[in-house]
Amino acid sequence: MRHIKHAFCLSLVTLGLTACGGGGGKSTSVAASSMAPGSVAASSVIASSAPASSTPASSVAPSSVAAPSSTPASSIAPPSSFAASSSSAAATLVNLSVTSGWRGNGDGNSGITYSSDGVSFTAAGDNLGAVTDIAAPIQLEDAVFTMIVKVSSEFKSSGASLQPFAQIKGGAWAGEWDCWAGNDLFTAGSDVTITCTIAEADKKFDQTANDVQIGVQAKGTPTGVVTIKSASVTLKQKASNSSGASSSAASAYSANVNSLRELATFPIGVAVSNTDSPSYNILTNASEKTLVEKHFDQMTAGNIMKMSYLQPSQGNFTFTNADAFVDYAKSKNINIHGHALVWHSDYQVPNFMKNWSGSAADFLTALETHITNVVDHYEAKDNLVSWDVVNEALTDGTPSNFRTTDSTFYVKSGNSAVYIERAFKAARAANAGVKLYYNDYNIEQNNSKTNKMIEMVTDFQARSIPIDGIGFQMHVCLNYPTATTIAAAMKKVVDKGLMVKITELDVAINQPYCDNYPANKISAFTQTVALAQKKRYCEIVKAYLDTVPANLRGGISVWGTTNANTWLDDLYRTQFDNQKISWPLLFDSSYNDKPALRGFADALQGTACSNL
Ligand code: G3I
Repeated sequence: MRHIKHAFCLSLVTLGLTACGGGGGKSTSVAASSMAPGSVAASSVIASSAPASSTPASSVAPSSVAAPSSTPASSIAPPSSFAASSSSAAATLVNLSVTSGWRGNGDGNSGITYSSDGVSFTAAGDNLGAVTDIAAPIQLEDAVFTMIVKVSSEFKSSGASLQPFAQIKGGAWAGEWDCWAGNDLFTAGSDVTITCTIAEADKKFDQTANDVQIGVQAKGTPTGVVTIKSASVTLKQKASNSSGASSSAASAYSANVNSLRELATFPIGVAVSNTDSPSYNILTNASEKTLVEKHFDQMTAGNIMKMSYLQPSQGNFTFTNADAFVDYAKSKNINIHGHALVWHSDYQVPNFMKNWSGSAADFLTALETHITNVVDHYEAKDNLVSWDVVNEALTDGTPSNFRTTDSTFYVKSGNSAVYIERAFKAARAANAGVKLYYNDYNIEQNNSKTNKMIEMVTDFQARSIPIDGIGFQMHVCLNYPTATTIAAAMKKVVDKGLMVKITELDVAINQPYCDNYPANKISAFTQTVALAQKKRYCEIVKAYLDTVPANLRGGISVWGTTNANTWLDDLYRTQFDNQKISWPLLFDSSYNDKPALRGFADALQGTACSNL
């Protein structure tokens, strides 16, 4: 297996494992021990490190939320002034009026206005906003505050952000200050949903004494107008909820991406599981299907098109599972990137090849037979558009060379790397139209391995060995390698006139070969970390767009759907103490968007990469 052995030690300590609170609020809202891996702590909106105003509203209006329209069916007793619009065993949703009961907050606030759109305030300065009150007694701990807001073009241009917040009107005026909606979320005049989980570990928001004010304020150097079109609170069911169900759906971060694939003019792919990982089987798991069909137009089989799955014993080709996967994709207009015809690693090399005792010539013929049969078979299914023909044939380190003793293929071919060109020739002979890639990891580091790979393809081109492109696996760290380094490596491939495909993208937060792990282990997937990952995804996609001309773009695929099912947590189970702490993908383990998805989309949409 792999593989990354980076000679670098970048500290992530400065990324911060605690979030900054406002002066009147808590010092941190992130309780690592209580956080589900892959979830964004405290808030599901875009964060910034700037603290909120701690200035309590000087005059506290009496509670004035919406008049009740029905009695909430919940064991939680929301105040009688709430209008409960729905409830479940897990949560109760209460709508807040946006036609009365609001006031401006912050020094020099000119107040609020009501219109048919909702309640508006003029964002003439930092910490100016609008709030409404919720009367005690109220259990707001872990409640999710959701607003649909709209900003004016002036606000958008000012670059300011919004901070939804809640504040206890008494005592030290403690607040929930960790929720943010960055400027990049907004389009002037368009609705944006922002949410904030009110999460104080010491349950200060379960108030019997003090009312709570809840609202939103502008941050930065804002100008323009902000309109709150609707506001609601989802109250979390307390101890009576024995099922342990939570209102996570209500607190889900939204990247505001309708469909990632629709933002790109090249394939947007994802590795999926099938029978190899039954819980996440794309053919049977409705959540996997929904997510994949929404965002991706290409799929790679994480495992089941590897050699031993398709030819477990010599001459015994077993296409059933892979066919079901390819056929499902076809029914959804999704193409397939085939992975992988030849790979030396792991259990997936069939035993008959590992144990080959015949001649090198016969071994090469057997290898060609595998390739010919598999490529032929999938030529008939015309949605398989490309293949990783040979995977990871080069060594790490300096100087890089062809793998030798650790490759069955090298050894059984008579201690020769000739198997590589034979594989490409066999694939082309079987299907003249399918794109053929050489695929490897760490070649994005523009190092000796990159140069060896370029040397190999230069030789192939000189001798007319067919090859269409290079697959950059791109299993990278949060901070390494830099986007500049990645771009330089891709440029070398572009200069050869070859296609560039990012085949297995993931951005590990923790990885034993990243950032001096475990010294700088990141224990919680805080907003700060999530936003750093968002920026990182954006920068990688941007490097691709900036470097690879449209006609050479083979596409970008991520290596997995959600954080729940990533090879990194499996492979590094021991180093990670059985915790899932790589958090490398675009969706959290509950299939919610992560900021990383926004980062990917930002690059596709030409929006500046940002950790806000
Ligand atoms: O299917 C068996 C299951 O029956 C058994 O109970 C279980 C016990 O460990 O193992 C299961 O097989 C695992 C298989 O994934 C399916 O989940 C293997 O042990 C495990 O080694 C295998 O890991 C895969 C790895 O390639 C090795 O083939 C990962 O899922 C897959 O994501 C990874 O993908 C590779 C690319 O092909 C090439 N580039 C690097 C990338 C990451 O390593």
